[in-house]
Amino acid sequence: MCASKRYTITAALPYANGPLHIGHLAGAYIGADIYARYLRLRGKDIVFVCGSDEHGAAITIKAIKEGVTPREIVDKFHTIIRDSFQQFGISFDIYHRTSEPIHYETSQEFFRILNDKNAFDIRESEQYYDEEAHQFLADRYIVGTCPKCSNENAYGDQCEKCGSTLSPTELIHPRSTISGGTPILRKTKHWYLKLDEYQEYIQKWIESKKSTWKSHVYGQCMSWIDAGLQPRAMTRDLNWGIPVPPEIDGAEGKVLYVWLDAPIGYVSATRQLFKEIEENDFHFAQPKSEQLLGRSKDDWEKYWQSDDTTLVHFIGKDNIVFHCITFPAILKATEKYILPDNVPANEFMNLQGDKISTSRNWAVWLHEYLEEFPGKQDELRYTLIANMPENKDSEFTWQDYQSRVNNELVANLGNFVNRVVVLVHKYYNGIVPQVETASFSTYDNQVLDSINSYADKISAAIESFKFRDALMALNELSSVGNKYLADLEPWKLIKNDPKATEKVLFIATQLCGSLAVLAQPLLPFTVDKLNRIFGVHKGQWLTSDKVLVPSGYQLGQSELLFEKIDDAIVNYQIEKLEKSKSQSQSNDIAYVQVKNEISFDDFSKLDIRTGTIVEAEKVLKADKLLKLTVDLGFETRTIVSGIAEYFSTEEVIGKRVSVLVNLAPRKLKGIESNGMILMAEDNEGKLSFVQSEAPNGMVIR
Ligand code: 2FM
Ligand code: ZN
Repeated sequence: MCASKRYTITAALPYANGPLHIGHLAGAYIGADIYARYLRLRGKDIVFVCGSDEHGAAITIKAIKEGVTPREIVDKFHTIIRDSFQQFGISFDIYHRTSEPIHYETSQEFFRILNDKNAFDIRESEQYYDEEAHQFLADRYIVGTCPKCSNENAYGDQCEKCGSTLSPTELIHPRSTISGGTPILRKTKHWYLKLDEYQEYIQKWIESKKSTWKSHVYGQCMSWIDAGLQPRAMTRDLNWGIPVPPEIDGAEGKVLYVWLDAPIGYVSATRQLFKEIEENDFHFAQPKSEQLLGRSKDDWEKYWQSDDTTLVHFIGKDNIVFHCITFPAILKATEKYILPDNVPANEFMNLQGDKISTSRNWAVWLHEYLEEFPGKQDELRYTLIANMPENKDSEFTWQDYQSRVNNELVANLGNFVNRVVVLVHKYYNGIVPQVETASFSTYDNQVLDSINSYADKISAAIESFKFRDALMALNELSSVGNKYLADLEPWKLIKNDPKATEKVLFIATQLCGSLAVLAQPLLPFTVDKLNRIFGVHKGQWLTSDKVLVPSGYQLGQSELLFEKIDDAIVNYQIEKLEKSKSQSQSNDIAYVQVKNEISFDDFSKLDIRTGTIVEAEKVLKADKLLKLTVDLGFETRTIVSGIAEYFSTEEVIGKRVSVLVNLAPRKLKGIESNGMILMAEDNEGKLSFVQSEAPNGMVIR
């Protein structure tokens, strides 16, 4: 384990424009919490900070949509998010807000430092302006067609479909998100961070992380670097945000770009934490370790400016560039701050076969889960850890939730602990029996030794951000316990060898005690139950001492750790998802702008026919392509279609389709494609076939 003197652990500040869902939890927060809890158990000096991100277009656009002020939006969602985190047991030392004065002060101070260090280039340029809304359109205020992938709903800063970073002037057919109108170009001035000047430094620094960072994080960073870092505007013409410091000439009316102020939010949260500790007056902070108490307000500096501090940012993959390139360049430019040691970003979690989407209400909302499943925080936490998208996108399904709870938590951990507690109560009135260690067999010693070997596995996994592996190791230890009971059958042994039975149940009790210790970072609510039974001292990690629950200790009453999840609950949740999705679809569709007018003659040139896909195969070395054979009634055709990311070959065989049959043939990956299958695309890029009931070969007009 790294010998750092202290740790600063940050988790991405969620936008206060909506409640939290499971994608947020699996992306950043559960991993961060496991890591923070583990380091505390190891006695490390850590701060774990987070807060609401309350600026930027995410907030103001939501306010415009709802006809309320941005302040109302952030107040509402900050409260919901903060409470959900707390009830779910995410152990932040502080949950702060970026609308707080100390954050304004800290962010403006950063701006001043960057300005003094000549990190900005002030440039005048033409930017899109909405004459109706009287506003410049940057970032999410403007949408249009992505020049790289033709997604018609790309944002002014990023295309969510192909992941490219964009600037508004690159968009084809730009339109204002506020009024829907076509914007005009108008001159304005902005402060650009000279990222190009940091290219060499950042490149060397990232290259030094090759062996310790996740490969997808490293890969994403290198592809940015290979493309060449460009200056990036750090100011905006908006009225919601942190004003550029007033003494900076020519910046009246400008605010800081949200991606400048948001990561500085980690620093302000740390400052606020130590201020509240010194003043012993807690508003945002709830320090989780004793060692933080009694510190003074200036101590925050050590957590950000001292080389013996390890800084770790937990984020989702959409935030990688800001945490691995832009923010490090800013930190470096200050010549005072440390850079992150690791940024173990996760990929995305999907839900029931589809992308999680707030606008389509395709999400499991944390506040709803907490209400509908009281006391079952760890059941969700377990499922999300087991499916954490650590290195690739993953999926949550309610069926998997049910099966993990029933077949893993109930059948393994719950069952083992329950059998031990019930038997110790039945045979010894709950008092842990006396044993002679000399009488332990090789098998007994092996089982006891597995406690330390699994503890080592769990530690190593958590220290290298492999939280799924840590959870699996915990499960395996519990399986060792179940197997031990199944092999030695204390319920039979009691009849002819009471002494041996005492030994078996003593050893099984020690395993339960070790599970109580080792589950602390992973399943904190379950640990509370285990502690009521086994009295294992909470707040410490395992030592080499294998006796965790001494002979003579009176166990607490048996309580079920987990309950089975019925089919009815799963079905209800799936129906709920489907219902809310169809409701939101009808309320909230963003329509793509109608294309330029064409003549009837233009239209009549298209020959579109009904058909049926009769064969399908994947095209080698082309992730997106399927080679389809389509029955058109009058003939069958080969058509290569770019739908392989959305449909499997099995799924498409037998599908009725509409085909543009007089499109000139073209070769794709060496295969001649004769026509085009028409598809409808929704706002999220989901495709569906355009189908008709007419027989194959009929004309569509
Ligand atoms: O993507 C988001 O939700 C951003 N609000 C994350 C900000 S992380 C940090 F920089 F604050
Ligand atoms: Zn794109």
